[in-house]
Amino acid sequence: MMSRTKRIRSSLVVAFVVVLGGLWGVRGAWAFQTETLPQLGKAPLEDVIAAMTLEEKVNLVVGTGMRLPGQERQPTVGEVEELVPGAAGTTYPIKRLGIPSIVLADGPAGLRIQPQRPDDPNTYYCTAFPVATLIASSWDTELAKEVGAAMGNEVLEYGVDVLLGPGMNIHRNPLCGRNFEYYSEDPLLSGRMGAAAVEGVQSQGVGTSVKHFVANNQETNRMTINEHITQRALREIYLEGFRIAVEKGRPWTVMSSYNKINGVYASQRRDLLETILRNEWGFRGLVVSDWFGGDDPVAQQLAGNDLLMPGTVPQKEAILQAVREGRLEEAVLDRNVERILRLVLRSPRFRGYAFSNRPDLPVHAQVARSAAGQGMVLLKNEKDVLPISDLGKRLVLFGVSAYETYIGGTGSGDVNEAYSVSIRDGLQGAGFSLLSEVDQAYLRYLPEAKEKLPKPMPFMPQPPIPERAFERAEVETAAAEADIAVVTVGRLSGEFGDRELEGDFTLKPEERELLEQVTEAFHSREKPVVVILNIGGVIETAGWRDLPDAILIAWQPGQEAGNAVADVLTGKVNPSGRLPMTFPIRYEDVPSAKFFPGQELAQPEGESAPRAFMFGKPAEVTYGEDIFVGYRYYATFGVPVAYEFGYGLSYTSFDYADFQAEWDEAGGRLEAGVTVRNSGSKAGREVVQVYVGAPRGRLYRPERELVAFAKTKLLQPGESQRLHFRVPARRLAAFDTSSSSWVLEPGVYAVRVGASSKDIRGERTFQVGQYRVVEPAYNVLAPERPIEVLHP
Ligand code: BGC
Repeated sequence: MMSRTKRIRSSLVVAFVVVLGGLWGVRGAWAFQTETLPQLGKAPLEDVIAAMTLEEKVNLVVGTGMRLPGQERQPTVGEVEELVPGAAGTTYPIKRLGIPSIVLADGPAGLRIQPQRPDDPNTYYCTAFPVATLIASSWDTELAKEVGAAMGNEVLEYGVDVLLGPGMNIHRNPLCGRNFEYYSEDPLLSGRMGAAAVEGVQSQGVGTSVKHFVANNQETNRMTINEHITQRALREIYLEGFRIAVEKGRPWTVMSSYNKINGVYASQRRDLLETILRNEWGFRGLVVSDWFGGDDPVAQQLAGNDLLMPGTVPQKEAILQAVREGRLEEAVLDRNVERILRLVLRSPRFRGYAFSNRPDLPVHAQVARSAAGQGMVLLKNEKDVLPISDLGKRLVLFGVSAYETYIGGTGSGDVNEAYSVSIRDGLQGAGFSLLSEVDQAYLRYLPEAKEKLPKPMPFMPQPPIPERAFERAEVETAAAEADIAVVTVGRLSGEFGDRELEGDFTLKPEERELLEQVTEAFHSREKPVVVILNIGGVIETAGWRDLPDAILIAWQPGQEAGNAVADVLTGKVNPSGRLPMTFPIRYEDVPSAKFFPGQELAQPEGESAPRAFMFGKPAEVTYGEDIFVGYRYYATFGVPVAYEFGYGLSYTSFDYADFQAEWDEAGGRLEAGVTVRNSGSKAGREVVQVYVGAPRGRLYRPERELVAFAKTKLLQPGESQRLHFRVPARRLAAFDTSSSSWVLEPGVYAVRVGASSKDIRGERTFQVGQYRVVEPAYNVLAPERPIEVLHP
């Protein structure tokens, strides 16, 4: 007989063996199961999809949620670890099928992630590159590509898979708070810059998301606004840049926009996301929604908005229920799932890339600095005040943004950089001595002024630091002691808000007063005044530009701001930036001013009020200016402007010669060429612009439209370069709504080559013999009611 203890012990042994055996069995079965389960990348995609449960498919088309400021993570079905803190979102992992979670992060002025992590001594700073508007001002696609490649490298090395950029909306109105994230008022410049940025970022083996598709041209009520736009304006102005970026850059993803277009949310329009994007333009990637965009997840799935970000529980429930009730075919989900899996397959995370978390930040800082110098625009330079090559000159700096320089905008387009160089530090670092009384006055004033500001809300544009007021005597002393005054004007804006007219588009009274005081004191001693505009978008200049001797737009130049400004002021870099938009004389001259930002509507009966402040109120806006956006309007309607599209000065001058242009009727293309010679005394680069004016036919046309551009290499004094342009008929064509096609009407066309949209250096004409349908297009996106539009 066994003793009781022995019996207990032996039954414990038996139990242990049984449990162990069971575990082995389970493990064996699990191993057997995963081996037989189709694995992503190994098995055919259709097998992987066939092995997914309905719930898994739904999990995949909806992101894993997001922690909003002050809140815990939004509850989602299942929870995933935060792979890269501060990234905007992740996709759902399905481990049993070998599907990892991939990471999407903002964009577009650099990678946006959290720079510090709890219990981790390492830092994760990214480079703040110049904003997109500055990049576009360079008119240099190679530069856009180079910046993209540096940015893409940080995306790769920090373990992110897709960068949420570039931003490609059109500068329809100067007050749009996000214009700094976008390139231009012109679709060709915007499209070519976007394509180059995509190529650069993706050269690193990571993806981009061209955004916000389409017509997200204002922040006011951005998530509810219904935009009434003609098909022609959509095609010629708002879609065209995206088309170029998609066809040439081949982005891995496109982000649909928040707004409605002619009554339907962009993310819920199959005709936009499938018909135009995929069928017409051949896009083969994935469409992701903007964060929390749209109001019907089922409609989004049907429309081909494959991935809903950041993802919420109600979205998942709605999709599941729709499939169960037969309102959404599972085949639609399968199609979207397949596109997500194709993206996952391309991602560095799936490929198992061993990211270092150590991108070469010093090298990228140099890229940021040199790009910034190439995109600054010199508006005025009387008596060649600039460059200031004599470092012995004593400078005095006025304006808070000289000391607290705005290097980029706010919101998702902001970057967490390790450091930034203010204009003051850059000029001092270049070797200038700064007048210490004023310098010290600002250094004392700024901390106090910042203390008094209301606490900034996360993401939101911060209230500006008020300008410091100066006594007359202080300015007089400065004028007596310094050789040159620099006055900066700074502007900051970002997501969630448009800019104000008073004191943002126009100068604030205290800014004007400071400028007047300084110019009076300095000019009475025959000393010059230089204004530096540290801005992200257009401001009023006509009312004060006569005061200073020189004006330089530094834009929001990224973290190397001050060094890049110093490079241009000292002449180390000859400014070659040209305006990618028009500076009007008055805001009222802007063609969309009458309509922007639309009207708010009463809440429809039975509909609940918006869920949160950021969702806005129901509203609508009509794009009554139609295709006459920017210079297309000013040039056609003869409205004078302060600085025209394409304008910018250099420290040297250029001659244009031998302009030739020939229309090849059979080939359907225009060939043009021009020789540019540096006729001045300093090395420099010129931006050469080609505009075409179509004849008055059945369709009204703008007086001129940009059809090609190029930037010369750095030309030494006396050196020339011949530039060639090949313009396909499609670029000369107009969109004919009645036949839904791009057409070229016969007649005499004027082709002009210029240093700006106004400074024309050569003109030729050519005759198009026959009416041609250059390209048919799907008849989609029609307005739900007629739109009264402007035409000449
Ligand atoms: C912005 C997008 C951004 C996304 C993720 C949205 O609020 O409109 O541009 O990519 O947030 O941060």
